[in-house]
Amino acid sequence: MERVNLLVSDLDGTLLGDERALVEFIGWYDRGKNHLRLVYSSGRFPESVRDSIDTHGLPEPDAIIGGVGTEIHDLTARRRLIGWPPISYRWNPLIVRTTCALHEQLQEQPQHLLSHYKVSFYGYDLDESFLGHLAHELATAGQDVALVYSSNRDLDILPSDTNKGTAAAFLAERWRIEREQVIVAGDSGNDLEMFCQGFRGIVVGNAQPELKSLVDPGVYQAAGHYATGVVEGLEHWLHSV
Ligand code: GLC
Ligand code: MG
Repeated sequence: MERVNLLVSDLDGTLLGDERALVEFIGWYDRGKNHLRLVYSSGRFPESVRDSIDTHGLPEPDAIIGGVGTEIHDLTARRRLIGWPPISYRWNPLIVRTTCALHEQLQEQPQHLLSHYKVSFYGYDLDESFLGHLAHELATAGQDVALVYSSNRDLDILPSDTNKGTAAAFLAERWRIEREQVIVAGDSGNDLEMFCQGFRGIVVGNAQPELKSLVDPGVYQAAGHYATGVVEGLEHWLHSV
């Protein structure tokens, strides 16, 4: 039978976080997998996602989107997708790092969590005005960037049109899957852009306030936590179309 739907799910705090809930998801996916392509999309890089797949016995995905949308590995084609991320002439990670280094609220994340397209910091309780000010400074320094703040702690700075949402849209287009057939699931700020692409969304019950506050007919706010919330949302969307 033809596989028509695509689930793009975050891992940490969404599919991962409760082992019992995960067993429920694995059983659910096993029963219906011929109709569903599966993609994990994480703030972590693909090698680290691969470790989680092995450690938690997660179902083998069709692709992995890593580094907050900065890398796409198409496992059906066994390669990293070329043509992603889009070229940006107003992105220079060195300038981004130098600009951010002036702020003592920001502590650069360890080297292995950074890449040419992902400059990340830890910064606790950053408010809108600080983020707005930083965005302005970066723009003044010639950088066309987006600031992605998650869980009151992680600040990722990415080229402006590179994120989990645009990466999922790029992959869906590659696979010729309509946006209405894409279901996305997440729990925190770095998932936000996935809910802005015309996909069907699932916010798990344990999500951070930045997603809990989303009110949109295309976004299902699950009561269930972690993978239980994902299954609940899948049942909701698959039976409402
Ligand atoms: C993951 C990444 C980290 C990022 C965070 C939020 O924890 O390892 O670099 O800041 O996700 O996107
Ligand atoms: Mg998460």
